[in-house]
Amino acid sequence: MESFINEVNFFNGNDPEELVREYGTPVYIYNEDILRNRMETVSRIITKYPYTANYSVKANTNIHILKMALEEGNNCDAMSVGEIKMLEAAGFSYDRIFFVPNNVTDDELLYAIDRNIMISVDSLAQLKAVGKLNRGGKIAVRINPGVGAGHCDKVITAGKRTKFGISEEDIDEMLALANRYNLKIVGINQHIGSLFMEPEPYLAAVSNLLRIALQFEDLEFIDFGGGYGIPYHKLDGEKEFDMADLSARLEPILDEFVQAYGRTPVFKSEPGRYCVAEGSVLLGRVNSVKHNSGSKYVGTDIGMNVLVRPSMYNSWHDVEFLRDGKTLPREDMEETTVCGNICESGDLLAVNRQLPKAKRGDLACLLDTGAYGYSMSSTYNSRPRPAEVLICRDGSVKQIRRRETYEDLLQYM
Ligand SMILES: Cc1ncc(COP(=O)(O)O)c(C=O)c1O
Repeated sequence: MESFINEVNFFNGNDPEELVREYGTPVYIYNEDILRNRMETVSRIITKYPYTANYSVKANTNIHILKMALEEGNNCDAMSVGEIKMLEAAGFSYDRIFFVPNNVTDDELLYAIDRNIMISVDSLAQLKAVGKLNRGGKIAVRINPGVGAGHCDKVITAGKRTKFGISEEDIDEMLALANRYNLKIVGINQHIGSLFMEPEPYLAAVSNLLRIALQFEDLEFIDFGGGYGIPYHKLDGEKEFDMADLSARLEPILDEFVQAYGRTPVFKSEPGRYCVAEGSVLLGRVNSVKHNSGSKYVGTDIGMNVLVRPSMYNSWHDVEFLRDGKTLPREDMEETTVCGNICESGDLLAVNRQLPKAKRGDLACLLDTGAYGYSMSSTYNSRPRPAEVLICRDGSVKQIRRRETYEDLLQYM
């Protein structure tokens, strides 16, 4: 693919130079059409049985994006009280929020219990804590189905080496504990990890979870988790995750389960990245170009505080350069390392890539930044966080979060 932003008309007729004149750099730009399309797709993964998609808001908690998820009919999963509060602000009712925390305090559990928000516990200790706080209540448990997957070790959340979930061997103890506190286990959930492009590990985990589900008598829902990947190497021709194929291959597995269980619980998924990643690009200014020991460094104002994924996970984001609002063609390329403005040698966005010849004043455009982009950003090096801007379906432009100021950095002192 020559240029993703041109191919999908990402800016929908707007001139990127105009956008950055108005909102500055670095800036996250979102495309409403792409976001809504993805959210709509996940709401149809299972059609034969009762099903809801829980958008996993850790990927992106911008309230305007949460409102889109609400309008597209998705529920949400939250990892923290902060995320629940964002969902409240976006207008979600408590029955549409699933609290899936890890290692939380009694106060955090009580926040959800007091509002009747369904909680999933992911250890026997937390099951006991909920039992004491909410004797006789309903609860869900996060099971480790024994199969994990993901783009690197840090995001694999099931299998043998993970802090998440309750293992199958602990189920007898779990049921005894629930019994002791008169807790009714009405849901089981899993999440095997983040970013897989092939459905096999997910399908294997679904089969395992459904086999385990037969040990629970009163399940109202079974949640298979998220993790569906997106093509971060799209400029090199990487294909989309085949959601239709996943749906088709899920169906016979669900048929078999429903028959064996004798009842039909609601099935759920928890996609985060798939919903939002491709709906955003990150624009930054090239402030300097230099050569160190023969390597070309293109220095931008997109520091690792703005987008941490490349430094944290070695993640790949495709890069396009824009000059006077136009994409530089992918010809006459040279080996280039694109970096940020943070005082860390690891502050690198793209290492030794073949890229068009960028110069000072160009715009660097990082693709697929909508998931774990702004939501993982920080103010490291005392740099205010960027603005977020939405290109609406009708081509109009709306700022959906203002740029932080230096005064914001000082406000808690
Ligand atoms: C419990 C849980 N559910 C869902 C997700 C969403 O994963 P993804 O963004 O890969 O779909 C995560 C991500 O870490 C998670 O921890």
